[in-house]
Amino acid sequence: MKTLEDLFLDSLADMYYAENQLVKALPKMAKAATHEPLREAFETHLAETEGHVQKVEGLFKSFGKNPKTKKCPAILGIIDEADEIAADNKKSPTINAALIFAAQKAEHYEIASYGGLRDWARLLGHEDVADILDEILDEEKAADSKLTELAEEACNEAAKSQSEEAAGTVGKNRGRAAEDALQ
Ligand SMILES: [Fe+2]
Ligand SMILES: [Fe+2]
Repeated sequence: MKTLEDLFLDSLADMYYAENQLVKALPKMAKAATHEPLREAFETHLAETEGHVQKVEGLFKSFGKNPKTKKCPAILGIIDEADEIAADNKKSPTINAALIFAAQKAEHYEIASYGGLRDWARLLGHEDVADILDEILDEEKAADSKLTELAEEACNEAAKSQSEEAAGTVGKNRGRAAEDALQ
């Protein structure tokens, strides 16, 4: 029989694995980014992610346990997809939009997981653990918001306009205006 505490600790082990994988993946994302503020955002979140590994280790100790790792196929799939989309869009004006698109999937996975873990910790009477999980959750949400901001303020538009330029078009509307002028 599994108790809620077992379920909590198993799920925490999944996140311990996921955070360690993200520590390996984020430097590659930073390296692939060509938009400087995006590269910096990945570097900043790498430092936070290293902190998450430490914090999760501490949470096991709060339950009197040694840190346990459990292979997380979900994060491996998300990271595989990020590698693939980065390779497919390398040297293209779409690279930064593609990296953000992939990275936000990892952040949303973390937000969903830590939200559930925080609620269970509170229910189990571990307010101290719930508070730490809230701190991690706040950093994941801030990282996600930063990515949305970079996509909306720069990277999506750049992906569109630079790929149109590279394709030798000047955008639908201006293209249409040029056609009209010829008629
Ligand atoms: Fe994290
Ligand atoms: Fe994260």
